[in-house]
Amino acid sequence: MAKVLSVSNQKGGVGKTTIAYNLAFGFARQKAKALLIDLDSQCSASMLLDNNAKRTTPTINDVLLKQTDINKAVQRSKGIDFIPASKSLASIDGLLTQVGKEYRLKRNIDDLMTNYDYIIIDTPPALSILTINALTASNYVLIPTTADSVALYGIGQLAENIEAIKEFTNPDLKIAGIVINRLNNTLLNKDLSNTLKLMAEKIGTRVFKTPLREYIAIREAQFHGRDIL
Ligand SMILES: Nc1ncnc2c1ncn2[C@@H]1O[C@H](COP(=O)(O)OP(=O)(O)OP(=O)(O)O)[C@@H](O)[C@H]1O
Ligand SMILES: [Mg+2]
Repeated sequence: MAKVLSVSNQKGGVGKTTIAYNLAFGFARQKAKALLIDLDSQCSASMLLDNNAKRTTPTINDVLLKQTDINKAVQRSKGIDFIPASKSLASIDGLLTQVGKEYRLKRNIDDLMTNYDYIIIDTPPALSILTINALTASNYVLIPTTADSVALYGIGQLAENIEAIKEFTNPDLKIAGIVINRLNNTLLNKDLSNTLKLMAEKIGTRVFKTPLREYIAIREAQFHGRDIL
């Protein structure tokens, strides 16, 4: 039975896609069966996996709009199973109007649960219906953040939203933890990291001991179409 993990933070550019993408490769290296679902209209994860951007095959949009069976939307590239997004996801909000729209992804994922060990969902930088679908379908949410004051403020908001998801659509959702990304050695960064730890305690989670520093290798790997490992 798969464990479902969303990588989420409504703040943009904190490393959601980078982490979701590399986690999929990490799991695959450990011979675990992993599926990466791109739930962002920017299609960043889809492009990293297969930059043949013209998609004639079904995407996650078709799955959410009940226009295809989820199994038909699964593609494989670089040894990773994934479901691509398409740009029209940006306007899906208005199309998902029926009762139960928060559960569309969960219902579909249920059909894949026995095929995988891990299902990783890359979410958009917004608390939209897409993120609500992702968190409703997940066992865990992993929160990447940068160590700056705007990001800290965002974590507070995100925690409130996670509480709302737990109250209304997914009581079992757990925060896997907060991972600090793009850390540098400035004093400010250190202070903010400490504040973040206190915040994490308040919302009943933890900050992972190993932060991710600002690594040029991450950008290089993406440029060359490779994973960081
Ligand atoms: N630790 C890091 N060191 C250097 N560059 C990084 C690091 N983490 C992410 N980046 C780069 O920062 C940019 C933003 O990262 P990424 O796309 O993963 O963020 P995101 O949270 O998914 O953004 P969005 O909110 O737009 O979806 C990318 O160009 C990525 O290569
Ligand atoms: Mg992203």
